[in-house]
Amino acid sequence: MTKTVLLTGGLGFIGSHTYVALVEAGYRVIILDDLSNAKASVQTRLAQITQQNEVRFYQGSVLDRGLLDRIFKQEDVTAVIHFAAKKAVGESTTDPIGYFETNISGLLNLLQAMKAAEVWNLVFSSSATVYGDATKVPTPEDSPLSSTNPYGYTKLAGEQILNQAAMADPWVFGILRYFNPVGAHPSGLIGEDPQDIPNNLVPYIAKVATGELSALQVFGDDYPTRDGTGERDYVHVMDLARGHVLSLGALLANGTSHTVNLGTGRAYSVLEVADAYEKASGRAVPRIIKPRRAGDVAISQADVTRAGQLLNFEARFDIHDMCQSSWHWISTGAQDAASDEPSGQ
Ligand code: UFG
Repeated sequence: MTKTVLLTGGLGFIGSHTYVALVEAGYRVIILDDLSNAKASVQTRLAQITQQNEVRFYQGSVLDRGLLDRIFKQEDVTAVIHFAAKKAVGESTTDPIGYFETNISGLLNLLQAMKAAEVWNLVFSSSATVYGDATKVPTPEDSPLSSTNPYGYTKLAGEQILNQAAMADPWVFGILRYFNPVGAHPSGLIGEDPQDIPNNLVPYIAKVATGELSALQVFGDDYPTRDGTGERDYVHVMDLARGHVLSLGALLANGTSHTVNLGTGRAYSVLEVADAYEKASGRAVPRIIKPRRAGDVAISQADVTRAGQLLNFEARFDIHDMCQSSWHWISTGAQDAASDEPSGQ
């Protein structure tokens, strides 16, 4: 029988790619999104990619308990993948309470609604940020956890809430710790679409490549890394999306929870990413060396052993694929062509 999965934040960057992967894997998928960081027109793109007539969409917030109850009453939901959250480290330091409300109260509200509906299967978006300044690189899941900003705190707290909730009730969860998601769907129809000047490296580089921004500011070239710039484990959003399908499949099949890193297991420096983007786009990416950005670590790199063992997950795409698909998405201008705005229920 077809299983129904609810995606909170399903019109966002990772949510939308996961929507496609789930439909392709045979699930019925419904989306809840408040459009705070996504466009309604993503629905049209998703319908186009998956060759469906429409996307089943509810417009609203995970903080709206009445809406959650209505969804669980109307739809025969087997599992939830919870993407809906705020994710900007810098913003979280100036608006910690806003982050606690959306990310922690939102999770609690969702868990209460799921419990009332007796839906116990949940995949939770966590982050490599829970490792703080990791003591061991590549970093395995059983490493010490810490947080250095309110955003990171909400992810760590979310994990702890799930672990403790599972001691009282029959929750089965997949906690997925994303490393640095980049890239876009090969169709060029969906991708990352930051509202303002991007904070993250690849979206920023993309705007330098188009000429919208003049140069990449490289935050520090005196780290103890290969070329002195920060190294990160960039992972293609298409791989990440597949990771969610594998996580969901594993928790439904085994009835046991897991906490797993999603990365490639290899790290690239800021300069290496800029070089790869130049190659993929055929455009120049001028760089200016700046001081280190507060709170950044030198290297973040996943130990992907457990992802392979528990989920049979292995990244298929490399940094070149990531830059190429990002450039395809950006250079076709599809992200700006949001004219039709289908409404939710
Ligand atoms: N960087 C630059 N210039 C820029 C932007 C970034 O040099 O304009 C550098 C950073 O200093 C860092 C690397 O590029 O070395 C990657 O930076 P990102 O901002 O793209 O990503 P982070 O690793 O800092 O942060 C990401 C997510 C966070 C998450 C964190 C840890 O955006 O949500 O990984 O998992 F918390």
